[in-house]
Amino acid sequence: MKDGLLVNALNEQMNFEFYSAHVYLAMAAYCSGESLDGFANFFLVQAEEERFHAMKIYKFLNDRDHRATLAALPQPKNEYTSMLDAFEHAFAHEQQNTKKFYHLADLALDEREHATIYFLKWFIDEQVEEEALFSNIIAKLKRIETDSNAFYMLDAEFAGRSFTPPAE
Ligand SMILES: [Fe+2]
Ligand SMILES: [Fe+2]
Repeated sequence: MKDGLLVNALNEQMNFEFYSAHVYLAMAAYCSGESLDGFANFFLVQAEEERFHAMKIYKFLNDRDHRATLAALPQPKNEYTSMLDAFEHAFAHEQQNTKKFYHLADLALDEREHATIYFLKWFIDEQVEEEALFSNIIAKLKRIETDSNAFYMLDAEFAGRSFTPPAE
């Protein structure tokens, strides 16, 4: 793979994954501030997943004899008005990320860079999971809006989420 548009776009995507980790870490901090430790744990695990995604691209660039180039991260949003608000932002963030992967896949297809096309397939599948995860939680939160018992049960459920790096 030559230096150029595709390598630049992979670097940009790696940095966006680090930024995603930053966004979710800020959401975790917001939840902790609201004494919702289960929700905070959910976002801490999400941040670890995003860091794992970034490192996957970092390793791919190295394996393909390219430099991973780290950029400054934009400031994430630190304030939300509710859990629903946070999850709606998370969902929108994932939808934006899916678009970025489609754009990357288009570039890889244009350059007939088959190794990259296959590499990106994992992320495109992952985005289907990510969008489903957040849209399901949004639906749940809307359903239990006025039911504080159900809300705290969800918080307790999220306390049990843990990060397991997916098998290669
Ligand atoms: Fe990601
Ligand atoms: Fe994600």
